[in-house]
Amino acid sequence: MCPPEHFKVTYSINPWMDPGKPVDVPLALTQWETLRDRYRALGHTVDELVPHAGLPDMVFSANGATVIDGRVLGARFAHAERAEEAAEHLAWFRGQGFAEVAEPVHINEGEGDFAVTSSWILAGRGFRASPLSHGEAQEFFGRPVIGLDLVDPRYYHLDTALAVLDDEADDVMYFPGAFSPGSQAVLRRLFPDALIASEADAAALGMNAVSDGLHVLLPQGAVGLFEPLRERGYEPVGVDLGELLKGGGSVKCCTQELRS
Ligand code: ARG
Repeated sequence: MCPPEHFKVTYSINPWMDPGKPVDVPLALTQWETLRDRYRALGHTVDELVPHAGLPDMVFSANGATVIDGRVLGARFAHAERAEEAAEHLAWFRGQGFAEVAEPVHINEGEGDFAVTSSWILAGRGFRASPLSHGEAQEFFGRPVIGLDLVDPRYYHLDTALAVLDDEADDVMYFPGAFSPGSQAVLRRLFPDALIASEADAAALGMNAVSDGLHVLLPQGAVGLFEPLRERGYEPVGVDLGELLKGGGSVKCCTQELRS
C-alpha cells in the first residue's frame, strides 16, 4: 500500500476524476490508515511504499505490479501522468530481494486489469491494459489468461467490475453491465454460481473489494452486497474511502496483493 500523502485530482483519466472537486488530504489519509489498520488487525502484513509528490495516483498501488508465486510482473501505464510509478514498484521489489522481477513490454496496470483465481488469470482490456499484455502475462506466469472486454468507461479497470472472493474455490462477484455480451457469456460459463452485483452496488465501486477468502473488505456504500456475501459464508467489512473515490479508486485499487 502507499499512503495518499500527495493524493490530488489534478488531471482526469477516468470518469470519476473531476479536477474541479477539492480533495481533503488529511481525511484521505485517515480513511486510508483505517483500511491499512483493518488489514493488520485481521492478521495480514502490510508493507508501505514511499509516496512521491509528483505522483498523486500512487496511492492506487494495485496498479504497480502483479505478483503470483513470488514472481513479479511490473506495470507499464497507459497514461503519461502515471508512467513513473512503474519504476517505484520495480525498485521496491528489487530492494526486497524478489528474485524474478520483470519489466513488461506491453501496457498493463497490474492488478487493475489482472485478477487471479486458482485456475486462471482474468484479464481486462478495453481502456487500459493492452490485449498484448495478456499473452505476456500468460507466458511469464505460466497460467492461462482469460481476456475480458470492458465496455463501460466508469468501469475502466477489471477490478472496478469484478472481484475474486475465494481464489481456491474460484468464487467471484461481478457486474455484468461492465462487460461485452461475449465476455458476459464467458463469465457465466466459468463462474455459473458467481455473485451478480447490481448497477447501484457497482456504481458505489462495490466490486473494488479485497477478500482473504473469509473477510471481504469493500466500499461501505455498496450496501446491497453485504447480505449476499454473508449468505455465501463471507464476512463483509465495509470501509469508507470516500476521498479516494474522487480518483476513481477504492479498497482494491489501494491494495496490491503479494502472492507467495
Ligand atoms: N486515478 C487512477 C487511474 O485512473 C485510479 C486507479 C484505480 N486503480 C484501480 N486498480 N482500479 O488510473
